[in-house]
Amino acid sequence: MKDIINAIEDASIKIKNLIETGDTGKSENENSTGDTQLKLDIASDQIIEDIFAKIPSIKQIVSEEQDSIIDLNEKGEYLIAYDPLDGSSLVDVNLSVGSIYGIYKGNFDAKSIIASVYVVFGPRVEMVVASDNCVKMYRLLSNEFKYIQDIKLNQKGKLNAPGSTQNCWAPYHKALIDDIFNDGYRLRYSGGMVPDLHQILLKGGGLFSYPGTSDRPKGKLRQLFEVFPFALTYEYAGGKAIDGLKNVLEVETTHIHDTTPCFFGSNEEINRVLKVYKENAE
Ligand code: AHG
Ligand code: MN
Ligand code: MN
Repeated sequence: MKDIINAIEDASIKIKNLIETGDTGKSENENSTGDTQLKLDIASDQIIEDIFAKIPSIKQIVSEEQDSIIDLNEKGEYLIAYDPLDGSSLVDVNLSVGSIYGIYKGNFDAKSIIASVYVVFGPRVEMVVASDNCVKMYRLLSNEFKYIQDIKLNQKGKLNAPGSTQNCWAPYHKALIDDIFNDGYRLRYSGGMVPDLHQILLKGGGLFSYPGTSDRPKGKLRQLFEVFPFALTYEYAGGKAIDGLKNVLEVETTHIHDTTPCFFGSNEEINRVLKVYKENAE
């Protein structure tokens, strides 16, 4: 596993340089989800693939930016699913973005995830590793990642990050979000799940939601590359991640690019979501 973390560190230093100097324009390609890929998405994907290709312990990789799984080493132990540059459309307005990695053993599905890593590219570059039931944060200082602190969520927080398009929300979801704001929670939503979820983790708690909507009943966020890795991080930090009705790490994956509704947060906020969603389940 150490070799994988080192590879992610090397890739992150290269991606940091790419973000600082690269062309923020669109490419002519679409990814499997139907998003137009930016040149930055393609270049960061290539950086990661080239670095992972040299690691013998990696059996297979799959990226949000690729159509299918890439075989690396038959004898490798680990499978890695990654979103090379989440929130890439925020680079041109100079907001924070991130990379997300889910490390799986056996299959690309929720029950096989064993560790996760995300890297935030903001005013500082920080890497957060969830493994062995704990969450550790590192910061890039003089071109090396140095350990800073462990991350633990409080039982209840103060931040609310409600994703997706409001006019497509179910009425009970709208009522839930309104109630949370009426209880004094503050809006914190940048449109990049990495900095938004990082903020909730570091400020002690709150709620990030990306529900199923009338236009996208299964939400937008992708299971393998985005949702499962952060679900593990939130669980190991003492919080929870659900799809509305159950732990999101019980959601089945039938296709590598499947999406799922998702809610990440500290325990009190997630219990609140569960109560509302259970009352409104058909
Ligand atoms: P990506 O850049 O990989 O396509 O994903 C962006 C994601 C996520 O980071 C963010 O939380 C969400 O899209 C924002 O979507 P909305 O604008 O629909 O809220
Ligand atoms: Mn993404
Ligand atoms: Mn992406």
